Amino acid sequence: MYNSAIKGLGFYLPENIVTNNDLSGLMDTSDKWITERTGIKERRWVNDDKLTTSLMGTYASERAIIDSGIDKKDIDFIIFSTLSPDYYFPGSGVLLQRNLEIKEVGALDIRNQCSGFIYGLSIADQYIKSGMYKNILVVGSEIHSGGLDKSTRGRSVSVIFGDGAGAAVVSATTSNSGILSTHLHSEGKFAEELAVIKPATSFWIDKIKAETNKDDTSYFPYMNGNFVFKNAVIRFEEVIFEGLNHSNLKKEDISLLITHQANLRISQYIQKRLNLSDSQVFNNIMKYGNTTAASIPIALTEAYKSNLIKKGDIVVLAAFGSGFTWGSAIIKW
Ligand code: ACO
Repeated sequence: MYNSAIKGLGFYLPENIVTNNDLSGLMDTSDKWITERTGIKERRWVNDDKLTTSLMGTYASERAIIDSGIDKKDIDFIIFSTLSPDYYFPGSGVLLQRNLEIKEVGALDIRNQCSGFIYGLSIADQYIKSGMYKNILVVGSEIHSGGLDKSTRGRSVSVIFGDGAGAAVVSATTSNSGILSTHLHSEGKFAEELAVIKPATSFWIDKIKAETNKDDTSYFPYMNGNFVFKNAVIRFEEVIFEGLNHSNLKKEDISLLITHQANLRISQYIQKRLNLSDSQVFNNIMKYGNTTAASIPIALTEAYKSNLIKKGDIVVLAAFGSGFTWGSAIIKW
């Protein structure tokens, strides 16, 4: 039986940097408010119409494939996670397959928002452990900027989100390192607490055409921020311990914790609860904002390229987001 391990990592960020001060030109906000509440100083927002979610995912994937040392023709499955796909359908996975010009492998789109990369990693892990595939591309890519309410009305959500893409090549290995376990959860009763409601089959073309209400905000992300925050800190801690316990590990065994970059205050709260030192936790939300499905692969790549992860390390990934969905992955590097 094979284990699965992350063999290559890469990310891509659009060049256009939007600072907190830039945002205060668009809406009633300030660098002080955003920094104090979220830790974010700047984010990337696409300003090139040609740059799509699948294209950013392609650039990140190309880098991950080079990093892995495998030939792209050896990729045998694609898992693409995004809440901001190029099209309503088909999914972005097939567009990635086309862009990469690889053979006709399966391409799966998943919609698990901030937990998307962890869900993708879990699926890849199972396919590899079952022997079905050897090299799976797991991608998270988001263009939030086009869908945000950038007026004062939308400020509590819009200041948080950024655009970006990250990718990992997950490969079969015969060593006992790699993904030790993954743990996934959902709680749909809170679906509308963090959601974009329209367009949808419950609000289909005829209704969209007839829509005249300019005050309708259901096309924009809605987030019950305080409620999400309170649930996030509980679920993050639960799912991290679920993973550690499953592998008979203690919090002291964590070499590096990378949480989904939702809000620096959430990461700091978890760090405190787990009594981890600064060197055991990696954050980069300050530079990129919340890039949803892309945030963990971007952070993992940065940490790895900065030599913060070495062979044998226990790396813990955890995410929480819209759905609600949450999950963790425990990796022995
Ligand atoms: N600039 C200035 N003032 C603002 C802004 C802003 N950008 N946004 C809101 N305010 C104001 C509000 O109007 C409110 O004013 P009032 O007291 O006069 O009514 C005040 O600031 C406080 O607003 P809150 O919404 O209560 O602020 P809060 O402290 O909750 O912070 C935040 C908001 C940062 C969004 C926080 O709730 C949070 O981080 N929540 C969790 C986010 C998260 O984890 N999301 C999950 C992942 S995302 C995904 O899955 C897609």
